[in-house]
Amino acid sequence: MINLINDDCLKAMAEMDDCCIDLTVTSPPYDNLRTYKDSLEWGEHVWKPILEQLYRVTKKGGVVVWVVGDATIKGSETGTSFRQALYAVECGFNVETMIWEKTGSGCLGSNKYYGQNFEYMFIFAKGQPKTTNLIKDRENKVKSGTVKVNGGLDKEGKGKTRTVERKPLGKRNNIWRFDTQKNSDHPAPFPSAMVNDHIISWSNEGDTVLDPFMGSGTTGKMAKMNNRDFIGIEKVEEYFKIAQDRISAT
Ligand SMILES: C[S@@+](CC[C@H](N)C(=O)[O-])C[C@H]1O[C@@H](n2cnc3c(N)ncnc32)[C@H](O)[C@@H]1O
Repeated sequence: MINLINDDCLKAMAEMDDCCIDLTVTSPPYDNLRTYKDSLEWGEHVWKPILEQLYRVTKKGGVVVWVVGDATIKGSETGTSFRQALYAVECGFNVETMIWEKTGSGCLGSNKYYGQNFEYMFIFAKGQPKTTNLIKDRENKVKSGTVKVNGGLDKEGKGKTRTVERKPLGKRNNIWRFDTQKNSDHPAPFPSAMVNDHIISWSNEGDTVLDPFMGSGTTGKMAKMNNRDFIGIEKVEEYFKIAQDRISAT
């Protein structure tokens, strides 16, 4: 089931049932960095009720992946991203911070500081995540290691250890590297591979995935490719049409 809604996400989410979403993968506007066809009304008074709605519609054990960065205003980052993460905790979510390192983006930002090339990928979980298909593609540099047996003590109270072989690939760490993507007429599309990896990590086939800030529909495209149901909401008609075309062509 694919359900695409051309409306304000707060209004559309208010009509959704409690606890109906397994996973949200989304990226809200970043402060006022972009105006999205001058349609944007953004600030605490908007994102706070949106986070409250996201908590309400998320199933127990469901996850919200909230990808965000900060604007720099008068020489300082705004810190809005952290305010949002802390507010998500006030709403009841657990929070884990992941980083998207934007490879291939050159050296960006002010001359006074090192190049700015990451965004936060906050993982808001309603309790402990119910689905964790954690990707194992990190090469284990150490092929074998020593572990303690029985608390490391034998009968004489001496240290006791045994050698174990490590699998060649271990669980990925929480900094992910993806090129920025320009794939449509939208100013800020997600990298498809990044969305793919979140979808397979935190949901199963047949689950329902939401994106309340659908933009060009990357989350919808990757949800469909991975046999998940999808609900996408986008306010700007021009972007909504791009998303419709991309998702139906998938
Ligand atoms: C950062 S972009 C998302 C891009 C998307 N991840 C993609 O891959 O194309 C944020 C989007 O949210 C939309 N938007 C902003 N406020 C909204 C609201 N209240 N309801 C629905 N959509 C909104 C903007 O028009 C914009 O397309």
